[in-house]
Amino acid sequence: MEPIIRVENINKTFSAANGQVEAVKDISFTIEKGDIFGIIGLSGAGKSTLVRCLNLLERPNEGRVYVDGKNLMELSEKELRKERQDIGMIFQHFNLLMQRNVLDNICFPLEIAGIGRKEARKRAYELLETVGLSEKAKAYPAQLSGGQKQRVAIARVLANNPKILLCDEATSALDPQTTKSILTLLKDINHKYGITIVVITHEMAVIQEICSKVAVLDQGRLVEEGTVEELFRAPKTEEAKKLILNGKGLGVEEVDDYV
Ligand SMILES: Nc1ncnc2c1ncn2[C@@H]1O[C@H](COP(=O)(O)OP(=O)(O)O)[C@@H](O)[C@H]1O
Ligand SMILES: [Mg+2]
Repeated sequence: MEPIIRVENINKTFSAANGQVEAVKDISFTIEKGDIFGIIGLSGAGKSTLVRCLNLLERPNEGRVYVDGKNLMELSEKELRKERQDIGMIFQHFNLLMQRNVLDNICFPLEIAGIGRKEARKRAYELLETVGLSEKAKAYPAQLSGGQKQRVAIARVLANNPKILLCDEATSALDPQTTKSILTLLKDINHKYGITIVVITHEMAVIQEICSKVAVLDQGRLVEEGTVEELFRAPKTEEAKKLILNGKGLGVEEVDDYV
């Protein structure tokens, strides 16, 4: 079966004031349909850039990005907009509309898609039930906890029936307990709707909790890839070893003594 995501030899270089930054260097990998795939690395490793290359929010300078067999790099703006509807994204800071209540936040993408008010509201209530937040329909984002805000963002992204959900540090602003509950919700969604999920995080515990496969990024390069089990049992690279030891709560100085 064709993988749902296939990335081939992508590069992304930014021009900054003090020169060029090679954020993504010759990265290739595939993600199978229905997987929960993790991308881990330290801050600045290129995780956000890589994930934004998957829906061409960031256009790679070189390479090919296939989603469901189609090379996004070859599409027109219009075709790309259509393909992007299948790729949802959630973020660390939720990106909710602060002047709209929860229900209207979820209705927003439906309205943009041209769905009538009444039908949009009905669908929004169903989605709120899916994320376990029915009683907050009329609340405003400012009245919600971080975990509740992320649930609203998840309901909103599900409104478009995406095939793929990209999560960029989606739990990084949350406490460990809330993180667990959001990861459980993402697992449920993966299971219930068969949505492929890509989880970008600097937290090893998140990978361990939810992912089946994982890629390790270091300074723009994909340095190691495999099942989560393999990575934790027998990491091959120094970079992966450091991340795992960090994840066990060791400070960076202690890690240097370890590996
Ligand atoms: N728009 C941009 N312009 C210039 N440099 C950027 C831009 N976006 C990211 N970078 C640089 O690319 C590198 C990777 O960043 P990023 O993808 O955000 O890493 P991560 O998400 O792993 O923390 C960093 O050196 C960062 O400063
Ligand atoms: Mg990032």
